[in-house]
Amino acid sequence: MAKAQTFTCSDCGAAHSKWSGRCDACGAWNTIREEAPLSQGPSSKGLGAARGRGIALTDLASRETPPPRTPCGLGEFDRVLGGGLVPASAVLVGGDPGIGKSTLLLQAAARFAAAGLKAAYISGEEATAQIRMRANRLGLTDAPVRLGAETNLRDILTTFDKETPDIAIIDSIQTMWLDTVDSAPGSVAQVRSTAHELTTYAKRRGMAVILVGHVTKEGQIAGPRVVEHMVDTVLYFEGERGHQFRILRAVKNRFGPADEIGVFEMTGAGLSEVTNPSALFLSERDAPAPGSVVFAGMEGTRPVLCEIQALVAPTPHSQPRRSAVGWDGGRLSMILAVLESRCGIPFTGLDVYLNVAGGLRIAEPAADLAVAAALLSAREDTALPHDTVVFGEISLSGALRPVTQTETRLKEARKLGFTGAILPERSKTGPGSGLTVQKMPDLAALVGGIFGAG
Ligand code: TYD
Ligand code: MG
Repeated sequence: MAKAQTFTCSDCGAAHSKWSGRCDACGAWNTIREEAPLSQGPSSKGLGAARGRGIALTDLASRETPPPRTPCGLGEFDRVLGGGLVPASAVLVGGDPGIGKSTLLLQAAARFAAAGLKAAYISGEEATAQIRMRANRLGLTDAPVRLGAETNLRDILTTFDKETPDIAIIDSIQTMWLDTVDSAPGSVAQVRSTAHELTTYAKRRGMAVILVGHVTKEGQIAGPRVVEHMVDTVLYFEGERGHQFRILRAVKNRFGPADEIGVFEMTGAGLSEVTNPSALFLSERDAPAPGSVVFAGMEGTRPVLCEIQALVAPTPHSQPRRSAVGWDGGRLSMILAVLESRCGIPFTGLDVYLNVAGGLRIAEPAADLAVAAALLSAREDTALPHDTVVFGEISLSGALRPVTQTETRLKEARKLGFTGAILPERSKTGPGSGLTVQKMPDLAALVGGIFGAG
């Protein structure tokens, strides 16, 4: 019989039979902890002759209509959920401590209560008096939300049996514990068991549950990744500490599109919705400056314009610095390599800094061309026309590839007062965009045509 595994990686949840400094499953260092085994797995003898009870299978072509969603009225939150909260669904909201998770969910709870759902907010981190103080600040003193300050999950579920909420918020999953699990709250075993109990309870009772999860410094939800698999929807609440913008991003959604974002602004009276994120991300743009380029991106189904800033300066070090905020460092190196080997623009001996303004994080390869234009603009000390947007993917050969949703991006740019666009040659543009479009076959054309360098 296999020996019980008692060592678990606190980052990815992989089980190991012995301790080691590095987890071979995810590569993290110093994350393996000893834990009591969860339960004995099935015995090596298999199921034997004993049979389970039969389950009723149904046809794929069922006449059941999907349950109605409940929008809370906080439009940016509803959008990320895929149009509202699905009954009996489980949602995980992850984010750094202090980013505003409790604030967001208290506001959402009040909205759901106003929309006619019975809402319960259970905090394992704050006393009810503290939550009331926050509600006061948010102007929600009279919202019919039921509050509880408790960490014992057995007691919480018994309370839910009595109160029968339609939606329960558990803030946070790392503070919850079950007396059947012999380890501390926040440990992999506790997080896994409490999340499992809560999600199965939610499905059984038709109650929606929103779990709050803290993230580790590597940006993953603390505790096992397996919690992400247990829930229907995983949302990340992100933002820079110094900025007031907050972005709620769907990274997984069984009931709607992933990659959708909701944009909020943290104010003195809680989070307020930002319905036009492009205007917000461009609001701090100064006069035309070398190194600044506006990228017309897509976040989920919505176009979002943002400013990409680059700084290129001679390095005092033997090894020049490459730093990217809001954009993948590997992708930055690739673009620098393409500029160097395909266009003859070297960056040796130069420090390169790249920054996406406003704390937005871009993952789209469509931003390649805007990044390249910002780098060139900074290196050549030449500003691009102020009213021009840029987008397109760069291949290793230096050729430009068209990207999806060209028309949507152009329309958004026009709406915000831009008059020109630089994009890949084969992009499909209709006659109606109203922008002066410059189409480029490759990166060398951008270098020669716009900057006269190379
Ligand atoms: P909080 O929701 O407690 O964060 P989390 O639950 O993710 O740890 O948010 C805490 C921060 O938000 C804190 O620094 C204060 C700030 N804040 C505001 O700026 N305005 C507000 O109205 C509220 C309630 C909080
Ligand atoms: Mg909190």
